[in-house]
Amino acid sequence: MTTITMTVNGKQMRADAEGNTLLVEYLREGLGLTGTHVGCDTSQCGACVVHVNGEAVKSCSMFAADAEGAEITTIEGMANADGSLGTIQQAFQDYHGLQCGFCTPGMVMIAADLLKNNPDPSEQEIRDYLEGNICRCTGYHNIVKAIQAAAGQSVPAVAAE
Ligand code: FES
Ligand code: FES
Repeated sequence: MTTITMTVNGKQMRADAEGNTLLVEYLREGLGLTGTHVGCDTSQCGACVVHVNGEAVKSCSMFAADAEGAEITTIEGMANADGSLGTIQQAFQDYHGLQCGFCTPGMVMIAADLLKNNPDPSEQEIRDYLEGNICRCTGYHNIVKAIQAAAGQSVPAVAAE
């Protein structure tokens, strides 16, 4: 067991971890940041995506020890300073980009990564970028619309269900 320190959502945090503790386990169990989800054991679903030094990473595919000293952003860090939903989160709410919500943290984090790299993506570019993120509920259509809206594109409103 060693103590691992990283900056998470702008705050320096530390917790003990084994050498083989995954980053997602460290975040959820070590730091209590349970917004990052685990949806598979094959690194396929993307529910666990966080940002490590500004890059989207599946946190189930990285050891916590390898993130020692890194800057991490999780879904808990995506809200505005006053606690209100951030732009991407608000767009997911407005455009019904979630149903059960299990995939949503990873979707928001991958969307933020996409918009940082490509602020005005086409629909196809959004769909391609979401390839590593699985949603079992929505059929992706409203997720794509939410990301288009978060990018400032004109998107028809989605009727309330
Ligand atoms: Fe990481 Fe599924 S839990 S990809
Ligand atoms: Fe249920 Fe995506 S909203 S898995």
